[in-house]
Amino acid sequence: MYNTTKKLSGTIELKGDKSISHRLLMIGSLISDKHNIKNLSQCEDVLTTMRCLQECNIHIDHTNNLTTIIGGTLKSPKISLNCKNSGTTARMLTGLLAGQKINSSLRGDSSLSKRPMKRIIKPLEAMSVNIKHANNMLPITIRTDDIKPINYKMLTKSAQVKSSLMLASLGSNKYSSIAYNKNTRDHTEKILKYLKFDISVKEKIKIRRSNVEKGFSLTVPGDISNASFIIAACIIIPHSKIIIKNVLYNKTRLGFINALKKMGANIKVVKKERNQNPEKFCDVTVKHTPQLRGITVSGDEIITMIDEIPIFSIVATQATSQTIIKNASDLRNKESDRLSLVYKNLVSMGANIIEQSDGLTINGNKKLYNTTIKHGNDHRIAMSFEVLNLLINSKMDKSYNEVIKISFPEFYDLMEDLIQ
Ligand code: S3P
Repeated sequence: MYNTTKKLSGTIELKGDKSISHRLLMIGSLISDKHNIKNLSQCEDVLTTMRCLQECNIHIDHTNNLTTIIGGTLKSPKISLNCKNSGTTARMLTGLLAGQKINSSLRGDSSLSKRPMKRIIKPLEAMSVNIKHANNMLPITIRTDDIKPINYKMLTKSAQVKSSLMLASLGSNKYSSIAYNKNTRDHTEKILKYLKFDISVKEKIKIRRSNVEKGFSLTVPGDISNASFIIAACIIIPHSKIIIKNVLYNKTRLGFINALKKMGANIKVVKKERNQNPEKFCDVTVKHTPQLRGITVSGDEIITMIDEIPIFSIVATQATSQTIIKNASDLRNKESDRLSLVYKNLVSMGANIIEQSDGLTINGNKKLYNTTIKHGNDHRIAMSFEVLNLLINSKMDKSYNEVIKISFPEFYDLMEDLIQ
């Protein structure tokens, strides 16, 4: 349908997964020893977590793909912590600092300041954290005199909230109990368990203060969410074939790849056995797939591909039939209202698409035209439409780098290496 003159070809590796990188920095800050982290993500969001922890008196150094962190020295910061665009920083750090009785204020950029914080404020208040907030949004100020354990059933299917509460629970000698959705990403519990914190993960998570004093040395697997943009480009651009090595293999993060497989995409995942790491690694081989079937994604599947819905929608425009995305209303609470921006941009390109309150219906196989995209300063929207632009126009103009570097600063360079 398009006279795409480029294809993707080659083998690459990616910088470390963003979610895991945030967590290793935060958990490392709690343990009074030196830790070594290889392949930590260098995206803006992770640098934001790093700077916030440094403001809290944690020593962190990064040279030649090796990050060292000395934990156990947390102190109240002298200035308010700027979480910039990063929801993971704001929500998880609030829990961590509250648990350690580190009084602090947290703020964010204009996007983060509009995102819901009630999901952490309510349970943290129930743990006796004193929180001042701006109508359940940032900026917030926390003060903890004594943290109480919590017996909590999560209302939001959110890994950030689950992790925030787990980290706060580490401040109490008594067990907290958290009932959670099993499809939410499980990196925090995996890392804590691996490092021998006092945690058990069954129907509920039980967790309390733990005496862990030994430093860790870990390598972060490649970012699977960043891989999704390259995978998508390869699937929709004729004659493409790529291999991405050493990517994160974790079933709470495989929703996008599983959905692509259901569409008939030519994609192979080979899991690697690697000991001495809480997470597994895999190699992913992808080939262009001309005939993609439309599918329905809904319910718990959405949780395992929550960040991939924008790029999944782009792939769906290239399917031969209808794709339905349901139960995805929390996408309206991300860095932008992602359902609305995907809808508006695709409509302006000529797509046959319907917006629902909790999803999208995308009728594939319609010729799309180039227009100016409104990315709303949302990194995942910008990358999704850059991939579509490559299919339609055979070009990427690199103009969204300021936005894209929030999660994937290597995006344009890697694409340039792969584009033939
Ligand atoms: C994240 C969890 C998800 C995801 C975000 C990263 C994490 O958010 O959208 O990009 O690292 O825990 P929710 O927990 O709000 O679903």
